[in-house]
Amino acid sequence: MFDHRDLAQLQAQSLKMQGWIRRQTFSPEMEKTLRRFSSWELAELILKVNQSTLRGRLAADPTLPQGTVEEDGRQRWYTLDEINEIRRRLKINRRSLMPYRPAGKRAIRAAIANFKGGAGKSTVALHFAHAAALEGYRVLAVDFDPQATLSHSMGLTDVDEEFTVWGIMARDLIAETERMNDAISGAESGAALPRRRLPESITGMGLDGLRNSDFIKPTSWPTIDLIPSCANAAFVEFASAQYRHLNPEWSFFAAVSRFLDGLSDDAYDIVIFDCPPAIGYQSMNAVFAADVLYIPSGPGYWEYDSTTSFIGQLSEALEDLARFSSTVPAGTMRLPKAFHDIRFLLTRFEPSNDLHRAMQSAFGKVFGDRVTQHPIEMTRAVEQSGRFLSSIYEIDYRDMTRETWRRARASFDRAYEEFRDNLIAAWDKLDEERPATLELEAG
Ligand SMILES: Nc1ncnc2c1ncn2[C@@H]1O[C@H](COP(=O)(O)OP(=O)(O)O)[C@@H](O)[C@H]1O
Ligand SMILES: [Mg+2]
Repeated sequence: MFDHRDLAQLQAQSLKMQGWIRRQTFSPEMEKTLRRFSSWELAELILKVNQSTLRGRLAADPTLPQGTVEEDGRQRWYTLDEINEIRRRLKINRRSLMPYRPAGKRAIRAAIANFKGGAGKSTVALHFAHAAALEGYRVLAVDFDPQATLSHSMGLTDVDEEFTVWGIMARDLIAETERMNDAISGAESGAALPRRRLPESITGMGLDGLRNSDFIKPTSWPTIDLIPSCANAAFVEFASAQYRHLNPEWSFFAAVSRFLDGLSDDAYDIVIFDCPPAIGYQSMNAVFAADVLYIPSGPGYWEYDSTTSFIGQLSEALEDLARFSSTVPAGTMRLPKAFHDIRFLLTRFEPSNDLHRAMQSAFGKVFGDRVTQHPIEMTRAVEQSGRFLSSIYEIDYRDMTRETWRRARASFDRAYEEFRDNLIAAWDKLDEERPATLELEAG
């Protein structure tokens, strides 16, 4: 017979192994660090300019970052900070090297969602975040999944649960309840409405004293920040159900969206959500905050089957939300929730596999141009780099067969570039006016 104690003991054994893997992977201080990028990568893959042109321009201006010559002696290697400085300061053929960003708008937000575990959500979120940062974008990633794959692969392993999406939701409940109570006191008919009271167990946690920035953690990438998750956040689903009961007029699904609205418009360019493999309070927050929905799916029949039921359940959940109403208006949020774009992205795709190609054409027949042009290919490089909790962008190409690395990177690059173009199209359409805010609508 086995009970919770046996499970706890098995977990303790496993944690020892996890610690060992992290020591092998991260620096001796157990901190993940970001490698430098070679002059070949910088010219050809990152800035996409001629290598000798770039070398000449860097040599001509010694005040530009000059990188470091490593032991192999032939190439210079640059940190991402150095690369970003070069990008800011250098123009090639009068062309700016800065990535496109529509003026005066907030960051564009994309949710990577599907409820099948293993669909590739976290892999896609990680690689898109890294590819975007290499292109010069400032990225905020939000890990909505208590399995915390994205947080762990970004090097955040010791996270207190109050600094996860759960903390954001609980803090939002406190703030929203207060706002509603104030609105009731202020209204003439207020006497008829009950004031909501939250228990000390929620109001006494000190969450209302936290600033927005307390939830945002730096990562080993200087231009990627993360709102992490942790295993202890797994109770969020239970807690959220209780919170809703305490204040049924709380727009629980808009907590993260309100949080993001509270950041300065210019703080980030791209916000990427990694979603849990379930439709629940956390994934509804992700989906509600998203401008664009990306649905990764493996190329097998069961994955197609599961993706089909995912979109069905999501549709029902969003229809339910559209009926949300509150006697105290919950700000200027727009319902029903509408996305600027929805795409299906095939992952772990093998071009030479007949079955995969058949599924690809089935996806195309059913979902038409909602399916992205470029699937993400199945690659040994991801399995290998995954073992080191890293993306293909982080792995030094000298650590594996160059061709394997190149092919894997090219596949992620193509999928990312399509993603970025889709985001830009949505970004351009994003309303000029500020989205949902905490302000009460007049009347
Ligand atoms: N393109 C790929 N090639 C090879 N393995 C992949 C690829 N994408 C994902 N995987 C592997 O599949 C597993 C599940 O991927 P993951 O991104 O964690 O899925 P999810 O977040 O949807 O649960 C991981 O072991 C990952 O390394
Ligand atoms: Mg995942």
